[in-house]
Amino acid sequence: MVEGSSQGAVATVLVTGAAGQLGRAVVEAAETRGLTVHGLGREQLPVEEPAACARVLDDLRPDLVIHCGAWTDVDGCEADPERAERVNGQGTANLAVACRDRGIRLCAVSTDYVFAGEVGEARRPLREDDPVGPASVYGRSKLHGERAVLEAAPERGFHVVRTAWVFGPGGKNFPAAILNRARQGLPLKVVDDQVGSPTLTLDLAEALLDLGCADALSGIWHAANEGSLSWHDFAIAICRAAGVHADIGRQSSAELGRPAPRPAWSVLDCSKLARLRGRPLPAWDDALQRHLAAEDALRAAAAVREGNGGTDT
Ligand SMILES: NC(=O)c1ccc[n+]([C@@H]2O[C@H](COP(=O)([O-])OP(=O)(O)OC[C@H]3O[C@@H](n4cnc5c(N)ncnc54)[C@H](OP(=O)(O)O)[C@@H]3O)[C@@H](O)[C@H]2O)c1
Repeated sequence: MVEGSSQGAVATVLVTGAAGQLGRAVVEAAETRGLTVHGLGREQLPVEEPAACARVLDDLRPDLVIHCGAWTDVDGCEADPERAERVNGQGTANLAVACRDRGIRLCAVSTDYVFAGEVGEARRPLREDDPVGPASVYGRSKLHGERAVLEAAPERGFHVVRTAWVFGPGGKNFPAAILNRARQGLPLKVVDDQVGSPTLTLDLAEALLDLGCADALSGIWHAANEGSLSWHDFAIAICRAAGVHADIGRQSSAELGRPAPRPAWSVLDCSKLARLRGRPLPAWDDALQRHLAAEDALRAAAAVREGNGGTDT
């Protein structure tokens, strides 16, 4: 819990995008804190429908909404800008207006993709007030969502939380993709010209709850695990930590040729949030160890379930 926090004012939390990798972690972390939690997926709360936002908030009366729902298929967004805008831009705006009208706090998750992502001469972590300039449809749609949150914001309790390179247990994410290929002995080539901070859902969930429960001035916050490296170096670290041998080749973003441009520099300065919480998020390598341990536990639990399935019949 953070200094000066008033979790007492927050008893009920609503999580959007609750079937996603971050949404699941927020639901679990909030339950562990003893909060009443409503984790809603896209079917229960499609944020692009203003009437659905209003109805759900009236029915459930949360004190805090943590908005994890988004269309996160970055290349898909490039091909369908209207859907990206509808979900990430207008959807976030709908939720912000509905929360403001009911005096409900809001933490809306955003992304490093709102920055142009050029390495720049300074090569320093990006601060909350650094100029934005998204290069992709996804980044622009998320920026529109950010602006809507800030426009609707009362003095306190409305937050945009930018994060980056999110991974977590049970999710479709970079460590899962790398280990899947490495364990099958398939060739691996990973880009070495994008640098960022891998961020564990479990750590981010705690930060979001701390912020949402604190009586903080509305604004933008950066939240990522400490430290930074390239995707190529992260792939090597993942295989090493998992004890899987793999030869991991390098390639440039241009060689990979994805439809949407990715930021070359995604390192976020998270000191504002660290001051609020009294500590930074843990280092990415510590986060990776805990992620792999959690994945092992999930696999073991699934094996037990399958074993039981065999004996129950
Ligand atoms: N993943 C990253 O590396 C990363 C980096 C920076 C920021 N972020 C941000 O972090 C947040 C969580 O991302 P994540 O990694 O947990 O992504 P995720 O696993 O794709 O989860 C997003 C969830 O949002 C749901 N959703 C999609 N359209 C929706 C709609 N119209 N209304 C309500 N919910 C909808 C999705 O449901 P369906 O699966 O049914 O579509 C999904 O369950 C997002 O705001 C994302 O922009 C992610």
